[in-house]
Amino acid sequence: MTKKIVFLGTGGTIAGTASSSSDNVGYLAAQVGVDDLLVAVPGLSEALKDQVLVTEQVAQVDSKDMSFAIWQRLAVRVTHYLAQDDVAGLVITHGTDTLEETAFFLHAVLPREQLACKSVVLTCAMRPASSNTPDGPQNILDAVSVVNTQGAHGVLVVCAGTVHGALAVQKVHPYRLDAFSSGESGPIAFVEEGFVRLVNQWPLDLEDVSCSAIESIANAVHWPRVEIVMNYVGVSGATVDALMHFGLLDEVSPLAGLVVAATGNGTIHRDLEAALTRAVNAGVSVVVSTRCQLGCVIAQQVQQFKDAQGLSPVKARVALMLSLMASVD
Ligand code: SIN
Repeated sequence: MTKKIVFLGTGGTIAGTASSSSDNVGYLAAQVGVDDLLVAVPGLSEALKDQVLVTEQVAQVDSKDMSFAIWQRLAVRVTHYLAQDDVAGLVITHGTDTLEETAFFLHAVLPREQLACKSVVLTCAMRPASSNTPDGPQNILDAVSVVNTQGAHGVLVVCAGTVHGALAVQKVHPYRLDAFSSGESGPIAFVEEGFVRLVNQWPLDLEDVSCSAIESIANAVHWPRVEIVMNYVGVSGATVDALMHFGLLDEVSPLAGLVVAATGNGTIHRDLEAALTRAVNAGVSVVVSTRCQLGCVIAQQVQQFKDAQGLSPVKARVALMLSLMASVD
C-alpha cells in the first residue's frame, strides 16, 4: 500500500517572511502557505521516497495568537488522518512560542490507540522562510525522518535535530535555533543525516493526564476559563480577587480555574494564598505548579491546593481546562 504523510500548516516563523533576507527578527510570522513551504525544502521528495504528500492549511497564525477554535480544528483533522490505514504519520508546522501547549493539548486529547503506533510531529523554525539561512527546511526533513522511523509514536516535537516528547518539551530560548529543552528527562532522540538515534523511550501513554474524548473537544462551544497567576516578591491577592470579581460575573465564560506558578516547591505568599482560598471556597479549582524551570512540586501530606503533577504552569492550565470540560460532560 502506498503510504501518505500528511502535513498540516498552522503558521509560525517557519512560514514567516521579512523584507530583507538578512533579517531573522523583524519578520511577519505565518505568511507562506504549507504547499509553498514544502516546495522550498531541498531533498524533500528523496526523503519521502514513494510516499504521497497530503497537505492542508488548518490555520495561518503567529502562535502567540493560537486559539481554542484552531486547537479544536487541528485535533479533529489530526484524528481524521490518524484513523486512515494508509497514513504513516503527520507533520504539523507551528510557531515556536506556544508549540509546547499545542503539543500537550494534542497529547492529551488524541485517540490513544492511534497514537500508540503513529507519530504526530510538530515542527517549527526560529528563522523565517525568507532568511538567507533558514532552519525550517532541515526541521521539516528531520520531522519526515521521525515519522518514517519504525516504532516512533506519540506527539513529538522536532527542532534543531532534537526530538522531544509533548510532556517535557519547553521553549527555553527566544533566539537560538536549538530553542527547546526537555529539561531533566532529556530529549527522546536526535536526528542525524536522516537517521533517528533513540536515547530515551518514545512517549508512554499517560493515563493520569486528564483526557477528554475527542468528540467532546470537537463539540465544545465554551472552554472553561482557567487563568495563570504567579507568586513573586510583594505579590498580593489583588489579581486573584479581580479575576474572581469579573470572572464570576461573566456569564459566557465564568472563571472556572486558576493555576499558580508558585515559587520553589509550590510556595505561595500568604496574601495570595488567602485570595486563592477564597477562590476555592467560591468553587474555583486551584492547581499549584512551580515557576522553577526544572523539577516539579513534591507533594506534601497535607496540602491546601491540588498539585500540577509535574506539569509546567502553561501545561497544567491545559490539563485543568480539559479535566473541567470532562467533568461538565
Ligand atoms: C510563532 O510562535 O508563531 C512565532 C515565533 C516562532 O515561530 O518562532
